[in-house]
Amino acid sequence: MGKSNHLTWHQSTITKIDRHQKNGHKSCVLWFTGLSGSGKSTLANAVDQALFKEGFRSYVLDGDNIRHGLNKDLSFGVSDRKENIRRIGEVAKLFVDSGQIVSSAFISPFLEDRAQVRNMFENGEFIEIYLNCPIQICEDRDPKGLYRKARIGEIPEFTGISSPYEIPDNPEIIIETGRMSIEESVKEILEYLKERKIL
Ligand code: PPS
Repeated sequence: MGKSNHLTWHQSTITKIDRHQKNGHKSCVLWFTGLSGSGKSTLANAVDQALFKEGFRSYVLDGDNIRHGLNKDLSFGVSDRKENIRRIGEVAKLFVDSGQIVSSAFISPFLEDRAQVRNMFENGEFIEIYLNCPIQICEDRDPKGLYRKARIGEIPEFTGISSPYEIPDNPEIIIETGRMSIEESVKEILEYLKERKIL
């Protein structure tokens, strides 16, 4: 079946601004990007916990989890990774429309895909957070044993080894997760949100 041409966009009566006013804060997406093992899920969850504790509305979208459900039909080839990020971008946009601060933790290795997601949002809503961590440290951590498997050829197209990771050229925040503690990193991100008057 082809795409329908008979679709109409319904504007919801309650606007994003109404939700911001009710919640007492703005919404945005914290787009964590970096190599496997760079700390995306850990930091996204720590930020979510800190926001939740202070009464802000927040949620985490995580690569491994989304690939168990919504995106379980997608592989790690280039075009499926692109589709993965496109879908996540759309989901993140729904969360931002619903007034939440959504942390997304996906490798999202390609500059073009991240730029496409950025373009879906209004100015200041898309906050790219690059977790800058040398691959040697990620590989030493190897929390899921994936680098070991990738090195012996058991996982093809593994990011950083047999598939590229394109470093962000102008991220809003850079966190050196090899040197900074989780607490320091959370503090830096929350300070950014306060400076930008999102919180
Ligand atoms: S991507 O590139 O954005 O589409 O990847 P993402 O959806 O974030 O999924 C990354 C997690 O999938 C596991 N995994 C792999 N990662 C990279 N390359 C390959 N080939 C691969 N196969 C499985 C891995 O657990 C990644 O999680 P993190 O948290 O990044 O380690």
